[in-house]
Amino acid sequence: SAVEKGGWSSFMAKEISEQPEAVSNTLLGRIHNDHVVLGELEGIDELLTAIDRIVILGCGTAAYSAMLGKYAIEKWARIPVEVELSHEFRYRDPVVDERTLVISISQSGETMDTLVAVQEAKAKGARTLSICNTQGATIPRESDAVIYTHAGPEVAVASTKAFIAQITALYLFGLHLARVRATLDDETIATSIVELQAIPDKIRWVLEQHGDITELANWMSDSRAVLFLGRHVGFPVALEGALKLKELAYIHAEGFAAGELKHGPIALIEPGQPVFVVVPSPRHPNSLHAKVVSNIQEIKARGAKVLVIAEEGDVAVLPYASEVFRIPLAGPLFEPLLAVIPLQIFAMELATAKGLDVDQPRNLAKSVTVE
Ligand code: G6P
Repeated sequence: SAVEKGGWSSFMAKEISEQPEAVSNTLLGRIHNDHVVLGELEGIDELLTAIDRIVILGCGTAAYSAMLGKYAIEKWARIPVEVELSHEFRYRDPVVDERTLVISISQSGETMDTLVAVQEAKAKGARTLSICNTQGATIPRESDAVIYTHAGPEVAVASTKAFIAQITALYLFGLHLARVRATLDDETIATSIVELQAIPDKIRWVLEQHGDITELANWMSDSRAVLFLGRHVGFPVALEGALKLKELAYIHAEGFAAGELKHGPIALIEPGQPVFVVVPSPRHPNSLHAKVVSNIQEIKARGAKVLVIAEEGDVAVLPYASEVFRIPLAGPLFEPLLAVIPLQIFAMELATAKGLDVDQPRNLAKSVTVE
């Protein structure tokens, strides 16, 4: 009902607007004196020093937060992390043992593909950690430990605030692991915590561009295909942007790693082809900014309609972009928490422009409890 939607036109619109709180509530009570304190891991801290490998499992949007978890955990805790779709992991006799930590990500905690993958990992002796948004759900109950995300109930089928909260929880875990395994100095941990704490206000800033994104979505409502490019942590953002557009607007959409462009996807570029590009800040040390801008030049030269998501001060993108959506400066690993938001809004508004039900897309279910 309208009351449940709190005045918003859809649950999805409401949930997108709740993303600042999804982050701050997931951080709540978990930071003390410049350290991450995850009381729920107390029982497994010893184990966290003994593992030699991490595998992160999930389906759909959860698999993309898993990818972001890999970038952060490897960077901070210097331990190999693999990401795999739960249903691929389950039936290929995966190599895991007592020294493997298997982290499952699931908003509902009921996705059958992920549940059976966790059970298989347990049967092989792996330790299991669940990241879940639903108290007492089946997957956390089957796991050795759980970090709950506090995004609040997510009703719209397409995940938004739960995704943002999953990334937050994975980053908290990465910083916790880095302390337990002594791979980061206190100052780096403290700086990363400050970055996380600044995210809610930065999300609010991005949300203010809703109107501009709606305008673009209205113009583009007859698009046949949209491509998304990103590099490093921008790559999972591109994949998520494409998934949202497929799920909600029924438009053929694909996300690519920007570095892969020349190995295939550039053949798809013809005059007028819309391409979203997630651009990293030029201000980061060793930034991939120049490489991504050169990708933009290559697609622009072939006639692409370039839609850019870039940091506020970045003027290098201006000569090539049809549209630029701005995000505030954030550390290299933290940009996805901001860059994905214009893409969520774009998919929702384009679906709305096509007259579609954004909360209940055809053929999809919020929680898939069959294999
Ligand atoms: C379904 C939903 C997706 C979701 C995926 C995983 O396919 O439609 O939005 O990302 O399941 O759900 P989970 O509850 O495990 O995060």
